[in-house]
Amino acid sequence: MKRLSVWVAIMVLAAGAAAATAEGPTLRTVMRQLGADLHALVDAIMVGDYEAAARAAGAIADHAHVGAGERARIQKILGPDMKTFKALDTRVHDTAVALRKAARERDTEAVVQRFGELVHGCTECHSGMRDRLRGATR
Ligand code: HEC
Repeated sequence: MKRLSVWVAIMVLAAGAAAATAEGPTLRTVMRQLGADLHALVDAIMVGDYEAAARAAGAIADHAHVGAGERARIQKILGPDMKTFKALDTRVHDTAVALRKAARERDTEAVVQRFGELVHGCTECHSGMRDRLRGATR
């Protein structure tokens, strides 16, 4: 009997862990990580560390995605503007991919240009969408 209850406890824990993974991070958690990655990118560019710059750009390009529940909440708030939200996210992704390539090629000029585009992409979504979504996704 004791053994059985241990198993039940393990299964319940495992199910809980699986649910948490399927749920995924909140938008705010994803954004905090993007902020940290952007810091790392600036540091790498400033010291001329191309490998670190490529890694940071790659982390931005391949950032984690929000879970299904969070996604549904965002969709509900934004309605038809969800398309714009996705397009802005895609643009940041594509710019980060281009930046990673430029860093791998040690092309400082291109790195700096892409960096400007990247920050522009972040702030464009923030000025248009942040107030609508802030707090609502926590
Ligand atoms: C498609 C839209 C979109 C893009 C693109 C975007 N963000 Fe955000 N970001 C948001 C929204 C919405 C919030 C507010 C989330 C909240 O407060 O729940 C946010 C919040 C943040 C925050 C504040 C998190 C906190 O602790 O309150 C940081 C930092 C951040 N973003 C960094 C970035 C960086 C860096 C990029 C570009 C590499 C970026 N974001 C691109 C939509 C976006």
